[in-house]
Amino acid sequence: MTLHRLSSFTYSVPNVAEVISYYTEFGLTDNGDSSLATVDGGTQLYVEQGPYRRISAIRLGADDPDDLGRIASSLAALGVDSAVAADRLVTTEPIMKLRVEIVVEQRTAQPAAARAPFNAPGRVERTNSRAAGILRNGQVKPRRLGHVALVSGESESSLTFFADGLGFKISDFAGDKSSAFMRCSADHHNVAVFSGPVSFPHHSSWQVDDIDDIGRGAEDLLTANADRRGWGFGRHYAGSNFFWYLKDPAGTFSEYYADMDQITDDDLWTPEVCEGKAGFYKWGPVPENFMPPGDIADLIAAQNT
Ligand SMILES: [Fe+2]
Repeated sequence: MTLHRLSSFTYSVPNVAEVISYYTEFGLTDNGDSSLATVDGGTQLYVEQGPYRRISAIRLGADDPDDLGRIASSLAALGVDSAVAADRLVTTEPIMKLRVEIVVEQRTAQPAAARAPFNAPGRVERTNSRAAGILRNGQVKPRRLGHVALVSGESESSLTFFADGLGFKISDFAGDKSSAFMRCSADHHNVAVFSGPVSFPHHSSWQVDDIDDIGRGAEDLLTANADRRGWGFGRHYAGSNFFWYLKDPAGTFSEYYADMDQITDDDLWTPEVCEGKAGFYKWGPVPENFMPPGDIADLIAAQNT
């Protein structure tokens, strides 16, 4: 695979200070220059001023400068311009007006999370001590950025851009194949594109060690402000990951996730068309105002003025 990670994204919002404060509470580290970092991934979120919430740019990591020329040719075949310098390619996804920067950079090396002993029927791993998860007290700190989920006003064109232009692999489709979960690494998805009336960001998703850290992180955020309630706790079908979504102060959901499917051999994975509840999640009832989100009328109005 030529690409190897979703490195970062730029989030454009009307309320920069509030959003930075929220993501600091979410567990990212504030660099003090409107950017925030994860434990393993480095700086992965840039916040900038804008009239309404949108993801204005993403950065992807590539292994080799040769990859950039190949991607430029694929984009040109779709009629999409790009500029290639020594170690980077810059282009714009035409529907969402999303700047995409592909940078030759090293892969993220993640230290292995501690394996907590887990008791199950007939399999006793922990005796005479309490579970590690309930003994943790520090703030949950996301290990790295996992994916962004984007709603596109013309999702088929956006899917073509990512799959045929940039070389993302389709892991699963959703609905009538107008939406898809796509990967540029072993993660089941690094970018998801859904169909909608206008383009807007649905959520960003951040990897934590396990379900205890999902629960602890969400508990802290909701205790401080119950209006942040999004969707969770639950387990997705597409990607298999455990999830809990909290709403940030600009209206985009932020997801803690753990235990996502890892696809290391394309021949051993068969994409499915995930439809309805069974395709979207295995358990954990979805609330109202999640998809579409509660501010959809405002987003449509903002983009039509
Ligand atoms: Fe997600």
